[in-house]
Amino acid sequence: MTETITLPGLIDVHTHLRVPGGEHKEDFRTGTAAALAGGITTILGMPNTSPPLSTPEELAAAREQAAQDILCDVGLFAGASPEMIDQLPACAPQAAALKIYLNDTFGPLRVEDVPTLAACFATWPRHKMIAMHAEKQSVAVGIGLAAAYNRPVHFCHISRREEIELIAQAKAQGLPVTCEVTPHHLFLTEADAARLGPLGDMRPLLGTPSDVAALWEHLDETVDCIATDHAPHTLAEKRSDTPPPGVIGLETSLPLMMTAVQQNRLTLNRLIELMHHNPRRIFNLPEQSDTAVTVALTPNSITNQMVQSKCGWTPFHGTEVLAKVQKVMLRGEVLFEDGRILAKPGSGKLLS
Ligand code: DOR
Ligand code: ZN
Ligand code: ZN
Repeated sequence: MTETITLPGLIDVHTHLRVPGGEHKEDFRTGTAAALAGGITTILGMPNTSPPLSTPEELAAAREQAAQDILCDVGLFAGASPEMIDQLPACAPQAAALKIYLNDTFGPLRVEDVPTLAACFATWPRHKMIAMHAEKQSVAVGIGLAAAYNRPVHFCHISRREEIELIAQAKAQGLPVTCEVTPHHLFLTEADAARLGPLGDMRPLLGTPSDVAALWEHLDETVDCIATDHAPHTLAEKRSDTPPPGVIGLETSLPLMMTAVQQNRLTLNRLIELMHHNPRRIFNLPEQSDTAVTVALTPNSITNQMVQSKCGWTPFHGTEVLAKVQKVMLRGEVLFEDGRILAKPGSGKLLS
C-alpha cells in the first residue's frame, strides 16, 4: 500500500490571479483550482492586474468577482502606485497586505522615488504587512526602510546568494525582515532557462548553481516561506515576439518540496513551517478548522496535461517527483480528490 502523510492546509502568499484584465491567462476559479490541486487552501493574489489593484474601487470590484468564483480562501494585495498613493489608506481595509514593486517586471506597477516609499511606510496600517519585489541592491533599500520605520518588511522571491546573505545579516541585527523563495529558484538554474527559452523566463531570472546552493543553505534559518509566484501566461504569449515573464507553480510546489523531504534535503517539520506556520504568522492569516491535505508518497511525473491553471503548461513538464496530492479537505468538505476538483465556486472565503 502507498504510504500517505497528512499536512495542514498550505498557504501560498504570492500568486497572480489575473483579475481584472488577464482572464484569458487565469481567473479566480482556475487559479484556486490550481491551488487545491497543489494542496494549498489559502492564497494571496498580487495587484499587478490591468488596471492594477491600487484604488478602493478596483479592490472592491476584484473582491466582488472573487466572492463568486473562489474555491479556496483568497486575500488580495493592494499595489503601491505613485499616482494613487493618497488612496492607500482607503485600500487597506480590503487588502491583506501592500505590495511595492521596486524593479521591472510584468505590468505597470513600479515605485522608484523615495517620497512614494516614505508615504507607503508612513500611511499603510502598521498591523498589515508590506511586501516588496526587490532584486539586487533594492533588497538593501527594503532593509533600510524596515530599519528607518521600525516595521516589518517581507521580501518576495529572493533568488540570489548576495540577497539571501544580506537578509541573513539584517536578521542577525534584529531587523524585522522576512523572505520567501520560490520552488523554481530552488529546483531550476540558468542552464534550465537556456533549455526552456521563454518558458523558463521570469523575474527574478533563474540563478547560477551558486545562487541555488545559497538558497538551500539558508532554507533552515533565513528563509521564512516557500511561495510560488504563480504567474500564468498563455503559450501563445510565451511564443510571441514579446514573451511576458512568469511561470506557474501552485500545483507543483508541494510535490517538489515533498520530494526534497524524501531526499533528506529538509525535514517534514521544516516544510510545514515554510508552507503553513510561517506564512500564516507573517501575514496574520486566519486558521482553517477541519482542514487537511493528504499526500501520497509515490513516484509521479509532472505533466502539462495535469495542469488546472488556465495557461495549461508548467516549466516542470516531464519532472519526476516522489509525491502526489491525493486529497484536500477544507472546513470538513473534500474539495479535491484523485485529480478531480470537487469544490463549487464560492466555497472559498475572502480574507480582509
Ligand atoms: O516573472 C514574473 N511574473 N515576475 C513578476 O514579478 C511578475 C510576474 C507576472 O505577473 O507575470
Ligand atoms: Zn515579483
Ligand atoms: Zn509575482
